[in-house]
Order: sequence, then C-alpha cells, then structure tokens
Amino acid sequence: MIIGGFRIKHLIIDENKCIGCGLCKQVCIRDNIEIMDKKAVDVESNCFDCGQCSTLCPTNAISIKAYSNQIDRVEEYNPDDIPVSYDDLLQFYKQRRTCRWFKDEKIPLDVIEKLMEAAYYSPNRQNIQDVEFALVEENLDDFIDHVYDIIRAKEDEFFRIKQVGDYLRDENRNPKRHPLLWEGQQLLLAFSENKTDAVIAMTRIELMAYTLGLGGFHSLFIGMAEEVDNDKLMEFFPEIDSNKHMYAAFVIGIPRVKYRRTRPHKNIKLTVK
Ligand SMILES: Cc1cc2nc3c(=O)[nH]c(=O)nc-3n(C[C@H](O)[C@H](O)[C@H](O)COP(=O)(O)O)c2cc1C
Repeated sequence: MIIGGFRIKHLIIDENKCIGCGLCKQVCIRDNIEIMDKKAVDVESNCFDCGQCSTLCPTNAISIKAYSNQIDRVEEYNPDDIPVSYDDLLQFYKQRRTCRWFKDEKIPLDVIEKLMEAAYYSPNRQNIQDVEFALVEENLDDFIDHVYDIIRAKEDEFFRIKQVGDYLRDENRNPKRHPLLWEGQQLLLAFSENKTDAVIAMTRIELMAYTLGLGGFHSLFIGMAEEVDNDKLMEFFPEIDSNKHMYAAFVIGIPRVKYRRTRPHKNIKLTVK
C-alpha cells in the first residue's frame, strides 16, 4: 500500500525466528513476501492483512502491524486436532431450531457481547471486516414503527405486513402475538456494505447463541425494510455509516419452549457439472 508516496510495510518479520522455509511466500495471494538471503521479506506489495502468512509460520516469526495491539488475541493450536467431529456438528445442526417463543426475560448485554466472538472470527471479503451490529431492545417499538412505515409499500403482496399494520393500530393488542416479533424483545441487526459478509456473521451468531441455550429467528419482513428503502431505514441508526445496509435481522431471546425432534426437510439439490 502507498500512502503519501511512501510504501507501507504491513508485516513485522522477526529475522531471528524466520527459518526461510518460504511457506509464507507460497500462501500469499498478493505477492507481498519474497525470500531473500534465506529470510522472508515484506516487499511492500498489496497486502490486505489477511494473516495467512502469520498463521502458517512454523516459528511464529510474522505478525501484522495493524494488529500489533492484539497480539494477546492470537492463540496457538494443534492443527491436527479438529475440535468438533462431523457427527457432533451434524447433531448440533439437527438440534438447532427456529424459536419464536421466549421467556419474559432479556439476555444480558455481556452475553450478547460473548456472541460477538462468533462474528469476530467470521470470514469476509478482502478482509475488510466492516460488519457491525446493533442490538435493539429499549427502542424496539419505535424501530418496528419505522420498519412498518417502510415495508407497508409491500402490504398488498404479503398478508403478514398487513397484519403488522392492523396490529400496530389495535389499541387492545395482545403483545404475545406480535406478527413480526412474536414474543421477541431483543433484535440483533447486522450491517455491512456486503450482504454475504453480514449473513455469514449473523449465521455464526445464531449458532453460537444456541450453544448458550439461547434461540431466535431470522426475520424476512424486518429484513425487507433494507430492500424497500435502506436510506430511510438507516435514518434510525445515525451512529452507523449510512453506506452500509442492514443485511441480517435476528430476533433473539431465551427460549421458553424445548424442541424434541427434527422435522422433515426437502432433499438438498446438488448439481455437479
Ligand atoms: C432469511 C430467513 C428469513 C426468515 N424470516 C422469518 C420471519 O420473518 N418470521 C419467522 O417467524 N421466521 C422466519 N424465518 C424462520 C423460518 O421460518 C425457519 O427457518 C423455517 O421454517 C425452518 O425452520 P427451522 O429453522 O426450525 O429449521 C426465517 C428464516 C430465514 C433463514
């Protein structure tokens, strides 16, 4: 990367540790590393801090300048030990259910913060890491009003949206039958400039939530607000860069029901050509 006419090195390579094996050069997709005099050298190419070199180095000789304040977050592990078996993970996927019925109790913020770890370790395009989240709880009613104002444009297409309007206008409404939230009291939203990045991160959060006995559902209709008018939607979040889109909406809570079995599914179609 060139800033103000100067090339900026992204890597810190410890010459004393480097054994010149060249693995880092092999895996770098930006041609940022050369082996010179049996040592790896950052040749100041187009590094995007993906860290492949540093995670593969047999002597831990490489670190990334941009993250030098995060050295303590780097953990060594035995690459031959895969911590979850196929069968365990499959069983976990089988047991995950969409849950819409929650206890009248909020998930504490420190637990929500624990879930963010799942997003922290998510892959993302060009290592941009621009996915961010909002937890809407205190302002949930206002947010739903805002969403309804946007998605009512599709009221004729989806009976559910019409139901939301009827519900919001009904003075005697039963808060247990909210057509968008059901019993949900907390809404987790993911924002990014790229849909895939946001959806991957939110999906991981959903699964992580399940490990903690939490549950929830992705919301098509809250998500639809992004499709109809993202600019207006983002007016609710002046704290968030308005170039980002709300690409994932997950109603999260503490389940008050326990699911006992899987359900039948359509077979997955796989085309091989
Ligand atoms: C993108 C997406 C949008 C969804 N939207 C809603 C929704 O608006 N309301 C709802 O109650 N469930 C919603 N769901 C949950 C699905 O209905 C649920 O995943 C499906 O019925 C399969 O059930 P399972 O998740 O328990 O396997 C959504 C799921 C996804 C992936």
